Amino acid sequence: MTRASALSVKQISKHYQDGSRQINVISDLSFNVAAGESLSVMGPSGSGKSTLLNLLAGLLELDSGDITLALKDESFSYRTANERSRTMLRRQHIGYVYQFFNLVPTLTVLENVRLPARLNNRRDLERHASTLLGEFGLSDRLNDFPDRLSGGEQQRVAVARALLLKPPLLLADEPTGNLDAENSSHVADLLFSSCREQNISLVLATHSNEVAAMADTQLQLDRQSP
Ligand SMILES: Nc1ncnc2c1ncn2[C@@H]1O[C@H](COP(=O)(O)OP(=O)(O)O)[C@@H](O)[C@H]1O
Ligand SMILES: [Mg+2]
Repeated sequence: MTRASALSVKQISKHYQDGSRQINVISDLSFNVAAGESLSVMGPSGSGKSTLLNLLAGLLELDSGDITLALKDESFSYRTANERSRTMLRRQHIGYVYQFFNLVPTLTVLENVRLPARLNNRRDLERHASTLLGEFGLSDRLNDFPDRLSGGEQQRVAVARALLLKPPLLLADEPTGNLDAENSSHVADLLFSSCREQNISLVLATHSNEVAAMADTQLQLDRQSP
């Protein structure tokens, strides 16, 4: 049985204007990711990996083409959405993991992971935060502040936070780029297995061939010619 695409990217393009120079970062790119499946995005620095993820997050506006994300009872089209509805989409339906963890330094580990539930008035999911942290081997770190944790531990907290709302889409921008080999494979395992088990589509940018090979599909971006 082929699964319906949860995420559908159709002929999208994105450029930046640098003075008089136009930089075409994404040109006529199309792909689909089914629910519970994963796509890794590879390419040299400057090839547009972060730009693509920011488009998928609704942080940047498309020049042309469209992205659609299947939600419970509707299909969200990025092209026709205004900035406010893209912000709501991101807050409610998209998890994001960054290279440098981006935890809130003044909140404890548990408070960081609960944050998406608080912001969305989902008190029902607040208890889920400590369950997730337990599953990720962090049950004895709940009340610590992020700066007490190793990089690998901080990234596991960030993955738990991104998963809390069980979003249909999880984006990860070089999530293992700042970790040693052992922590890198631990974090990658958590990301891929959690998304698969919870039917979350995962799009992950990485420089690591090993991590990229864990995805169902690989996408290679090239440095754009000036
Ligand atoms: N806000 C911006 N304004 C102008 N150029 C940008 C901007 N953001 C990124 N770029 C350029 O777009 C290209 C792709 O960048 P990026 O998406 O960050 O690539 P990657 O994540 O693969 O390193 C690079 O040439 C970068 O310099
Ligand atoms: Mg980048």
